[in-house]
Amino acid sequence: MSTAISPTAYNYKVVRQFAIMTVVWGILGMGLGVFIASQLVWPELNFGLPWTTFGRLRPLHTNLVIFAFGGCALFATSYYVVQRTCQTRLISDSLAAFHFWGWQAVIVGAGITLPLGYTTTKEYAELEWPLAILLAIVWIVYALVFFGTIVKRKTKHIYVGNWFYGAFIVVTAMLHIVNHMSLPVSLFKSYSAYSGATDAMIQWWYGHNAVGFFLTTGFLGMMYYFVPKQAERPIYSYRLSIVHFWALITLYIWAGPHHLHYTALPDWAQSLGMAMSIILLAPSWGGMINGMMTLSGAWHKLRTDPILRFLVVSLAFYGMSTFEGPMMAIKTVNSLSHYTDWTIGHVHAGALGWVAMISIGAIYHMIPKLFGRAQMHSTGLINAHFWLATIGTVLYIASMWVNGITQGLMWRAINDDGTLTYSFVEALQASHPGFIVRALGGAFFASGMLFMAYNVWRTVRASNPAEAKAAEQIAVVGAH
Ligand code: HEM
Ligand code: HEM
Repeated sequence: MSTAISPTAYNYKVVRQFAIMTVVWGILGMGLGVFIASQLVWPELNFGLPWTTFGRLRPLHTNLVIFAFGGCALFATSYYVVQRTCQTRLISDSLAAFHFWGWQAVIVGAGITLPLGYTTTKEYAELEWPLAILLAIVWIVYALVFFGTIVKRKTKHIYVGNWFYGAFIVVTAMLHIVNHMSLPVSLFKSYSAYSGATDAMIQWWYGHNAVGFFLTTGFLGMMYYFVPKQAERPIYSYRLSIVHFWALITLYIWAGPHHLHYTALPDWAQSLGMAMSIILLAPSWGGMINGMMTLSGAWHKLRTDPILRFLVVSLAFYGMSTFEGPMMAIKTVNSLSHYTDWTIGHVHAGALGWVAMISIGAIYHMIPKLFGRAQMHSTGLINAHFWLATIGTVLYIASMWVNGITQGLMWRAINDDGTLTYSFVEALQASHPGFIVRALGGAFFASGMLFMAYNVWRTVRASNPAEAKAAEQIAVVGAH
């Protein structure tokens, strides 16, 4: 098939910026993860200063890895995918630039305010009202650029990956705005508009759907573009991808109460959340199978292509964490897992195994294309990164399973006379070896990111401006 070069070009500048910042924030966020994991091994690392304590750095870790690293990966890939599948340039370069700089400003704001102790105390929604408003404005600009580009598309069809990105954008805006409704009392202090059990329910409706739409739906958009591209095969079933989309977004929104089992939330709401979470297994696995089966006839490529390995192993971890999640949502299982390291293990099976691995694979796929190079500087380094990431994830989640189940069983053990068999500190002492293994696993994962930074830097350095410019041309036929 011949390809004609269009006079117009893609806006790759903003994609490059977000892609590079994904690597930068990934190193900082995961480096901080290793640091707070080490604080749990060696408490002296809290240094006795308020702003370096675990309690202040933990939310900084979650903000950096989810919103800075994960966010930049989602923005880079969504802008790349929407342009290529719609065969058109982003609707506005200046709005896209505002999105980039505005988002970096929110993250820098988080980096300053969280260690200083300014927080709403709502998990994953800690940023105080001035930053929350800035975030909302930046998000609306993102929505304008993304949906505006879809409106001016040159193709008839809207590729399924864009549906997933679109749902992620719309639902995240809704969650953020509703959960942040609050009354400011000073520049850096506000009180939630909700109270009691209602506040808790709104918070976990937000929290769970942040997982469902930020950490899952957006990354599924990524999966639907980059897995077929890297495997050089069409999606296994396009029909299944549409069923997957509607089933996933219809069900996810109801599952939030599984975070509030055995609390003041009405019992019926807890049971509804549990039931919806179990049903959620079906679309989650439908999507995972659709991605995996895309490799039919291309499995041999895994032997030589470490980027494809990142993408496929991320799907395996996605399948694993979306099996584990529904199980943990069952009330009797949750009575063992809740408050323990099992939850932390589940989180990172999704966060490291799924979110980080698919992002890393997608960035490795994009970087040479964005800079007009045939491939990354070193395939060997990608391979080394793959093994560091996989071994790191396994060490992290296996140690947290052992710790979580140990903690859950020790906390509920009761003597014949009804007294507790173990004190809390005894359970903590039993967790110490697991904390060491987790810190080691995290260090593996984070050092892989340093390999990535070096590889990306060498690839970018080898590119010249003419090559990069040529890469931006829109090839009209058979382009995406
Ligand atoms: C080198 C990699 C990483 C290390 C060593 C690490 C370490 C940690 C540690 C020690 C905690 C606190 C656990 C506790 O309170 O007991 C934590 C929490 C968390 N991390 Fe990470 N992390 C890493 C990467 C990531 C990534 C890439 C993501 C997301 C994309 C992520 C998301 C989270 C979340 C959501 C929590 C809060 C979990 C909860 O409240 O249940 N982490 N991490
Ligand atoms: C079908 C899919 C899933 C279901 C039904 C599910 C269910 C659950 C359940 C029951 C909990 C424990 C709640 C508690 O005891 O407090 C939990 C925690 C969590 N899950 Fe999942 N999960 C799913 C997939 C995922 C994925 C793919 C990710 C990450 C990418 C993820 C991230 C998290 C996080 C961050 C938390 C901790 C929230 C917190 O307490 O701070 N989950 N999930």
